[in-house]
Amino acid sequence: MSAPKRYRVAAVEPDERFRTRLTIQLAATEATVSESIESLVATLDGNRPTVVVFGPGLANDTGLAQAQRLSRQHPEMGVVLVSEELSLALLQQALRAGVRDALALDTDDAALRQAIERVGESLVSSRTQPGSGPVELGRVIVTFSTKGGVGKSILATNLAVALASRSTKQVAIVDGDLQFGDVAVLLGIPPTHTTTDAAAAIDQADVSLMDSFLATHPATGLRVLPAPVEPSAADSISPEQMLGIVRMLRTMCGFVIVDMPPHFDDVVLALLEEADDVFLVASMDIPSIKNLKVGIQTLGLLSLAGPKLRLVLNRANSKVNLDIADVERAIGLTVQFRIPSDVAVPQAVNRGVPAILDKPRAAASIALGEIANSFLGAEAEETETAADQEPRRRAWRRTDKEASGQ
Ligand SMILES: Nc1ncnc2c1ncn2[C@@H]1O[C@H](COP(=O)(O)OP(=O)(O)OP(=O)(O)O)[C@@H](O)[C@H]1O
Ligand SMILES: [Mg+2]
Repeated sequence: MSAPKRYRVAAVEPDERFRTRLTIQLAATEATVSESIESLVATLDGNRPTVVVFGPGLANDTGLAQAQRLSRQHPEMGVVLVSEELSLALLQQALRAGVRDALALDTDDAALRQAIERVGESLVSSRTQPGSGPVELGRVIVTFSTKGGVGKSILATNLAVALASRSTKQVAIVDGDLQFGDVAVLLGIPPTHTTTDAAAAIDQADVSLMDSFLATHPATGLRVLPAPVEPSAADSISPEQMLGIVRMLRTMCGFVIVDMPPHFDDVVLALLEEADDVFLVASMDIPSIKNLKVGIQTLGLLSLAGPKLRLVLNRANSKVNLDIADVERAIGLTVQFRIPSDVAVPQAVNRGVPAILDKPRAAASIALGEIANSFLGAEAEETETAADQEPRRRAWRRTDKEASGQ
């Protein structure tokens, strides 16, 4: 990493052994490394955004209390905590103390540098854009069905990467299937932070903290909030917290896609109400259609989300004796999109790459791309060719520009 010009990097660590290690890790950032908070404070310049790395010797109650006090006194400063081991309890405590990101000491150097860059850029952009007027809220799109295995996650992940590649706006995907979500797997992303972290911090979170919880899909720049790694963690996430997460994300992104579980609970209900578009996914078989019909009736889905519902038939070319008109009559909605059954889909699942990127010319990918384009209007026509030709470079250029707050 070249020396950051727009913000400074400093580190503080009382223990000599850790201090030497941090000095080596941070050499490329030209960090000033101090042995005490007092000597750190002496180096702070109230005008210059500064990322301060708190070392493992401060990953305790006293250190975090000092981080909290310092962050209040020096709004130009953002703390990144590096601890010997990062437990969920410590992470939550750190976030409550206003720490912007926390990593384990054995995390690779690149992850630490990225965390520093993210915090540094957010400190810079929060200074250059003071109160930039009313925020335009992004569009919340959810994929829903009352039946499992019908293609909700396939639709959500492909739609998300297509929008991230083709739109000029930032796009995020949230795994709303808190127990068994597989969005991170489908995108080939190892979950670092998850909904558990974001939910625990949402009451105190600002945009830059939320940003630090989001992984970035390398090929498209899509921002990703994976489901908790432990299914039991789902119970501790409330509908209010999920809503808080989605509402904050829609201030940051043009599109927020939420992939839903196959059941109905208060979290799902809250998200259905919040959504602008609810993709109702049905597959072309009698049990799926029947299940959806009963689901729509018992959940009162038409009164809950009527005008927002978009019926999608997945595996629409399956060789079954089902007529689309029969399906529409049974469900009481018009089919808006059809996705054909296509071997490219399970092949892509196994590779951890959404089909639309893995096999863009496959029939299912083309159908999924048309769903994405329906959200882009003129933007799709302008960018589709360029996006198809070099999605990787476009996505990175956009992310870099946005990250620097331009
Ligand atoms: N159009 C398609 N063509 C071929 N296979 C498909 C298609 N859509 C989905 N599948 C297969 O069905 C499987 C289930 O899809 P997906 O995970 O999206 O369902 P889901 O509705 O999210 O399931 P759950 O309710 O368990 O979350 C996928 O792993 C994929 O292999
Ligand atoms: Mg799913």
